[in-house]
Amino acid sequence: MREIENLQLNAQGQLQHFLSIEGLDKALLTEILDTAESFAGISSQNVKKVPLLRGKTIVNLFFENSTRTRATFELAATRLSADILSMNIATSATSKGESLLDTIHNIEAMQVDMFVVRHSLSGAAHFIAQHVAPHVSVINAGDGQHEHPTQAMLDMFTIRRVKKQFTGLRVAIVGDILHSRVARSQIQALNKLGAEEVRVIAPKTLLPTDVESLGVSVYYDMEAGLKDVDVVIMLRLQKERMSSALLPSESEYFKCYGLSEDKLKLAHKDAVVMHPGPINRGVEISSKVADGTQSLILQQVSNGIAVRMAVLSMTMQHRRESI
Ligand code: NCD
Repeated sequence: MREIENLQLNAQGQLQHFLSIEGLDKALLTEILDTAESFAGISSQNVKKVPLLRGKTIVNLFFENSTRTRATFELAATRLSADILSMNIATSATSKGESLLDTIHNIEAMQVDMFVVRHSLSGAAHFIAQHVAPHVSVINAGDGQHEHPTQAMLDMFTIRRVKKQFTGLRVAIVGDILHSRVARSQIQALNKLGAEEVRVIAPKTLLPTDVESLGVSVYYDMEAGLKDVDVVIMLRLQKERMSSALLPSESEYFKCYGLSEDKLKLAHKDAVVMHPGPINRGVEISSKVADGTQSLILQQVSNGIAVRMAVLSMTMQHRRESI
């Protein structure tokens, strides 16, 4: 997808929009991780603020519900001293029949600098990026079943902090791959950053038909798939995206694909457990594992702020250098 590649980067190869992991190379992904590392300490300071984006206005445009993503974008913007406006689209003009582009152009007329967009349609953020003024940046906070690039980058940041490097790492992504924009972004990021092997573990009904072409090894059996992995990423069953019954029952699903303490023992003894949230205890993960010593789930949430600060500041950087 050359078009997305060109749209994300300016003529100097800097990040102008952040729409997908597709189209970005290892150097740029590493720059995001390194920039996030430089912001990580700010959240533990007494005064949790730097003046980097003072005077900039960021608009959170969430057409779909979100807790973690929306809150961490708000905190990231606040900690960079930007002004942030979070729009509740369910109660806004689009529900009165206004088109998406009219909504965007009206908010743009308020001299904003950036849109952070979550939408149930794949390609929504890309579409908005094609239609905003050249100085406005667009960040994809999850589009349909397509990509969720800031989630993937905060997951990469969390993995790198604990495992130090990607070389030699075996990572298993378990569960509803079919409906997961998170998995699509993670698989690309892990492959670009040099992971040894990315496995997907799921029943056939929850895997896209062309899944191997994403660069993964496929396992239908959780016991076999977890053997010797260093990182286990669990995914929620995205029931809101399932048009028909793809599973027998939640308890049956947990027996076959849920992460229990016993199943986790099959992974490497230093393996870490991750989940983008929201978690469904007893459906894809047991409480003992979710709250256990190998779980990084809450660290992922904290790291989301530093990674989103990195992406906000890098996309604003293109403006300073191109003006
Ligand atoms: C994910 C999402 O919305 O795609 N959650 C998130 O951003 N933290 C995954 C999910 O909803 O299961």
